[in-house]
Amino acid sequence: MDKFLIKGPSKIKGQVTISGSKNASLPILAATLLFDKTVEIKNLPKVRDIETMLNLIKSLGFFVKRNLKKKSVKILKSKKIKTLASYNLVKTMRAGILVLGPLIAKYKKATTSLPGGCLIGARPVNYHLNVLKKLGMKYSIKKGYVHAYVKNSLVGKIIKFPKISVGATENAIIAACLAKGKTTLKNCAIEPEIKNDLTNFLIKAGVSIKWIGKRTVEIYGVKKLKSISYTIMGDRIECGTFCISAAISQGNLRIKGFNPKFIKTEISLLKEIGAKINISKNEIHIIGPKKIKNKKFLQTKEYDGFPTDLQAQFMTLLCKAHGRSIISENIFENRFMHVAELRRLGAKITIKKNKAYIEGQTKFEGAELMSSDLRASVALVLAAIVSNGTSIINRIYHLDRGYENIEQKLKKIGVDIKRIS
Ligand code: EPZ
Repeated sequence: MDKFLIKGPSKIKGQVTISGSKNASLPILAATLLFDKTVEIKNLPKVRDIETMLNLIKSLGFFVKRNLKKKSVKILKSKKIKTLASYNLVKTMRAGILVLGPLIAKYKKATTSLPGGCLIGARPVNYHLNVLKKLGMKYSIKKGYVHAYVKNSLVGKIIKFPKISVGATENAIIAACLAKGKTTLKNCAIEPEIKNDLTNFLIKAGVSIKWIGKRTVEIYGVKKLKSISYTIMGDRIECGTFCISAAISQGNLRIKGFNPKFIKTEISLLKEIGAKINISKNEIHIIGPKKIKNKKFLQTKEYDGFPTDLQAQFMTLLCKAHGRSIISENIFENRFMHVAELRRLGAKITIKKNKAYIEGQTKFEGAELMSSDLRASVALVLAAIVSNGTSIINRIYHLDRGYENIEQKLKKIGVDIKRIS
């Protein structure tokens, strides 16, 4: 298992380009199962979760032609399509459940492994199953698999999600593209990966999709999708992570490849803690403050609130703030795995239920650390960058799930980082 060796402290300086979004790519790749002709996806990040999704699509009988140099992939249906999404693939990546909607819509049957447990929370898939059931899918659960079918085809309905879910919204929108008539989904997740990228991809392929008000979408089902080429948006969480790297290290960083309009909440938060930020159409220029201000109360929320996927990174930043801060995690039950490791570097954080109470002005001292989930791991990298001395971060395969070329990018902006195999 690879490790990172990071010698701190470093000041982040220079320019970085954001890769394609992992969480936009995953549902769009799942939606390629709806097509009869070739679909090309560009700006695909080379990260492990994307490799897993491509392997899953291959295992279903599709031709997958990757061009790593061009960061693109072409996907084409073969004559022999299987409708089994196996445990081996879905257990390593929960987004595997996203093939259920398109398989049912296009091939009328699917056997999909239920994703197993997850460190950050229980993460059931009941909203995915319920919304597809309302569109006409019948299913039973046997031996860890969802066995599903639909008699003729899915039929559009008006459906309101009981709670906002990113994955269930994606599964339902994708399935509704081939459902008969109009599907209206209410109380949807509106993350840019959905309301911008997945929607634009499907519209380009010929589906009529209209967003109404804040969280309602109407999808008019079609018989076939058009062969298209589509470029994935920049990664919102990678962009936020690099912003925090500059903010925490008194850095001076220019960030390219991401449309700043999608991270307004994060930008105003970073300004509140003292960062100077200049925004132009295609660049975010951030200068970290000498004295980081605390944030009395910050809570994670669905978009356009503060994202749970940046909670761990922001906590590392607030460890260096002048004054106490509180972060409330409202999306997942157990997303404080990074806290015990940050404490090993010197952080003073107390957890009570879903709240973290953070003492400021931590002087991080390098230590040996353990990665847990993707975002917890990158929070440790941020802490190691501003620690005195050397940190060793174990099990960085978690980082490889979602950050493309992270060590090359960090090296280029002044971090002393080495991957040890
Ligand atoms: C997506 O996960 C992201 N994953 C996550 O990114 C992100 O943390 C999360 O949305 C929240 O923003 C991808 O896009 C691939 P949810 P998802 O359904 O779709 C509960 C990362 O680091 N729930 O919006 O699984 C659930 O347990 C990650 O890149 C149910 O109860 O998230 C959670 O508490 C990890 N039943 C809440 O809803 C369901 O059927 C929100 O989950 C579905 C969800």
